[in-house]
Amino acid sequence: MEEHDNLRTLSVDIGGSGVKVIVLDSKGNPITERGRLETPKPATPQPVLDAITELATNQGDYERVSVGFPGVVRQGIVETAVNLHPDWIGFDLATALSKNLKRPVRVVNDADMQGLGAITGKGVELVVTLGTGFGSALFVDGKLLPNLEMGHHRFRKGDTYEEQLGRAALEKVGREKWNKRLRKAIASLHHLFNYDYLYIGGGEAKKVTIELPPNVKIIPNLTGLLGGINLWRD
Ligand code: BGC
Repeated sequence: MEEHDNLRTLSVDIGGSGVKVIVLDSKGNPITERGRLETPKPATPQPVLDAITELATNQGDYERVSVGFPGVVRQGIVETAVNLHPDWIGFDLATALSKNLKRPVRVVNDADMQGLGAITGKGVELVVTLGTGFGSALFVDGKLLPNLEMGHHRFRKGDTYEEQLGRAALEKVGREKWNKRLRKAIASLHHLFNYDYLYIGGGEAKKVTIELPPNVKIIPNLTGLLGGINLWRD
């Protein structure tokens, strides 16, 4: 039996278009209504921190904070932020947010957090997220390989996965073509990783209309927030 403390976790998902928050109980079940604000433009650190602080004030009480950030994050410090703003590079998000919210804060890549909320913990599990950017996360028997950045690797026609399947591409080429590209991406990722399961999440996953192989599953966007509980299960 797993032991549970009774700590509540404020889970934060920073996206290219929206900042989302929810509070999870000690088992990881949501206990508040999800809050959302548009991602400030330009998405520099201070306005994004302000948006999180504002959202947090409507979420009642919580003892700790988990954040999914759309870039490479190491020990709470941001290393890349392609879809937000270059000012994030080198920014100590965990420390800054912890000062604002007066609670301990843990930060990981957004696709990693999404994956932590989705996987079964058995075999090779790959997670991709379709939103503003193209996120990816890889797990072997539940163990995460952090900061996998498939999105910026070559996919086809000289383009990266993100250039072919990110929101800008979806808006440019339309759903039908975007779905065809996704079918090719799934085949390409299967060749590379030979995963047991592939989970597809993110805000645009609801626009997937192609028939999926039996080991490929669409996961709800809320999973990005639900994964927050796992940052505290060490
Ligand atoms: C970033 C990833 C992120 C993904 C989804 C990409 O542009 O490089 O770190 O997970 O977007 O937000």
